[in-house]
Amino acid sequence: MNILKLENVSYSYQTKYQTIEAVKHASFTFATGKMYAITGESGSGKSTLLSLMAGLDLPSEGHIFVNGTDMSSLDRDQYRCREASVIYQAFHLFSLLTAKENVMFPLELRGIPRKEASRQAENYLQKAGLPEKIYRQFPPMMSGGEQQRVAIARAMAAGGKILLADEPTGNLDTENEKKIVELLKAFAHEDGCAVIVITHNPEVAAEADKILRMCDGILTQIQ
Ligand SMILES: Nc1ncnc2c1ncn2[C@@H]1O[C@H](COP(=O)(O)OP(=O)(O)O)[C@@H](O)[C@H]1O
Ligand SMILES: [Mg+2]
Repeated sequence: MNILKLENVSYSYQTKYQTIEAVKHASFTFATGKMYAITGESGSGKSTLLSLMAGLDLPSEGHIFVNGTDMSSLDRDQYRCREASVIYQAFHLFSLLTAKENVMFPLELRGIPRKEASRQAENYLQKAGLPEKIYRQFPPMMSGGEQQRVAIARAMAAGGKILLADEPTGNLDTENEKKIVELLKAFAHEDGCAVIVITHNPEVAAEADKILRMCDGILTQIQ
């Protein structure tokens, strides 16, 4: 099912001295149940495109449709809360909450009572391959791979159908990278989400169903 549609999307940064066209006329449609990789050199506009898809900003030109509704007419905070989760290279967990509390957060935000949220959070943490001893740990005490797994468990708990990941394995060793990629794939293929992963790693990209490339702000599908 098509869930996220880019239609002639452009985005420019205005700085004091120049206008930088970071994304130029991007058009593409993302479907649920698939994993997409976006590759490209540093500075080619990948993160800018991702932040537009996350609704953190609106395109300077063109439209992004979520389930057919123009992003500009959506409540974008609600969109990020209910529909889309974002994962970053630097994990971005709440460091004053335990692993389990991090995963309970979106559940409680959705109005799920504490006891049930606790049960579901444990399920997601288990699904993400984390041992029980991690549940009560705080993110700064965990390894990078563990933190990223908690971030994925939290994204799963958010219950949305879109997962956006910006270099999610950038800080991880090969072993952990493989596990995270497997989790992301399962999120697409088993849970029916649209998973969009920015990566400069060809091995990660090769695991995707479709590969896109950003080059100087221009988005093309290469595979
Ligand atoms: N906040 C900003 N202000 C001005 N220019 C920016 C800003 N963020 C990114 N850029 C510029 O936009 C272009 C695309 O950046 P980015 O989307 O971060 O690329 P990538 O993620 O592919 O490395 C680059 O030229 C970058 O310098
Ligand atoms: Mg980037």
